[in-house]
Amino acid sequence: IYRSSLLRFADDGRAMYDEDGLLATAPGDDGRERVVAAGGWQALSPQLLGQAGGEAVVHHLPGRIIAPGFVDLHIHYPQTDVIGAPAPGLLPWLENYTFPHESRFHDRAYADGVADFFMDELLRNGVTTALAFATSHPASVDAIMTAAQQRRMRMIAGKVLQDRNSPDGVRDDTEQSLVDTETLIQRWHGTDRLGYAITPRFAPTSTPAQLRGAGELAARYSDVWIQSHVAENLDEVAWVKELFPAARSYLAVYDDFGLMRERAVYAHSIWLDETDRQLMHRTKAAAAVSPTSNLFLASGYFDYLKADEAQMLYGLASDVGGGMSFSPFRTMQAAYVVGRESHAKEGQSLSPQHLWWQHTAGAARALGLQGVIGNLQPGCEADFVVINPRATPLLARKAEQARNLDELLFGMVILGDDRLIEQTHIAQQV
Ligand code: GUN
Ligand code: FE
Repeated sequence: IYRSSLLRFADDGRAMYDEDGLLATAPGDDGRERVVAAGGWQALSPQLLGQAGGEAVVHHLPGRIIAPGFVDLHIHYPQTDVIGAPAPGLLPWLENYTFPHESRFHDRAYADGVADFFMDELLRNGVTTALAFATSHPASVDAIMTAAQQRRMRMIAGKVLQDRNSPDGVRDDTEQSLVDTETLIQRWHGTDRLGYAITPRFAPTSTPAQLRGAGELAARYSDVWIQSHVAENLDEVAWVKELFPAARSYLAVYDDFGLMRERAVYAHSIWLDETDRQLMHRTKAAAAVSPTSNLFLASGYFDYLKADEAQMLYGLASDVGGGMSFSPFRTMQAAYVVGRESHAKEGQSLSPQHLWWQHTAGAARALGLQGVIGNLQPGCEADFVVINPRATPLLARKAEQARNLDELLFGMVILGDDRLIEQTHIAQQV
């Protein structure tokens, strides 16, 4: 039993906050630690402590906030060391920095080293689940899955499929890439808390045959995830038009090959039209909004207003190494700035509650994992962060002056980083 302030979310995305809160966890039938009670201390503690009859351990954390672990909807673990590589835009950035760097991940020992660092960096920043790209090398998937398994984390990852328009060292073979994908699905999907994602890098680097094979696997393994990129940059959009002249749009390429469905997550989704947004909505595919990456690579601004009008699923993502930070606070801050573009008429941007939701319960919903992660309602797996809202002198002033929940959350969204995260707790397994 934890006693501290407690942040969680209602099904409609509204934040729920108990200043003097209680979170109780216990192992479920499968031995995994889950939330059994969450709410106000005064209301819940007499009965809970009575039931436990002296068995309960109470962790009192005065001045701290327990909140759901963050969910990063799109990140590349092999790009941990690519952060901050300057380029005029996406395509030269891939060619000059990213592809050469990713070619190193054929080496399992190298991949293990980066995967361990990456996982610890996620945890240090309060991220408890991520949907991650590996590289085109199967060993790179074994490395990240092993690192996640050792930390009991719920992690979803996949081998990148890229059989054309890619240099030696990262380009894979059409047939072999599909065989490798199926082998990796069978090895990792559903093992402990791990999930597999079929991962065509993006339409320009896959042949129609590879995309067709990916779609066939996605139909056969219907609870496996799909991840890719779409409509990030105008040069990229024009290239896709050349390569797939018969497709109605860039997003339609993925639909044509059976890659639009629940549990499919498309990073960026900036340059979509109305028909594309309806396709996202109808298929229940989700957008991974990556604002620090979109600002860094000058890709464009995700249109929150149109996404909401179309009732699209979306959540927040760092997109490291196009992205600028592992910290969910930096990502939420950038999303606030980006949100101004589509909300210009109203003269404001997204609320801090909505930003926080997009990086926790909203991202979990986009993954089809509502009620499993990203929240602290009864039944959720016990992945959470302990936040010190007074972690820096300026944050402390902000917290003292906050008159309501929005002001408290907003101070952390705008000023926060890894220093706010005092502890990251991953559900225990007995
Ligand atoms: N499009 C294709 N590959 C990538 C990548 O690695 N990062 C980003 N941001 N966009 C991509
Ligand atoms: Fe990406």
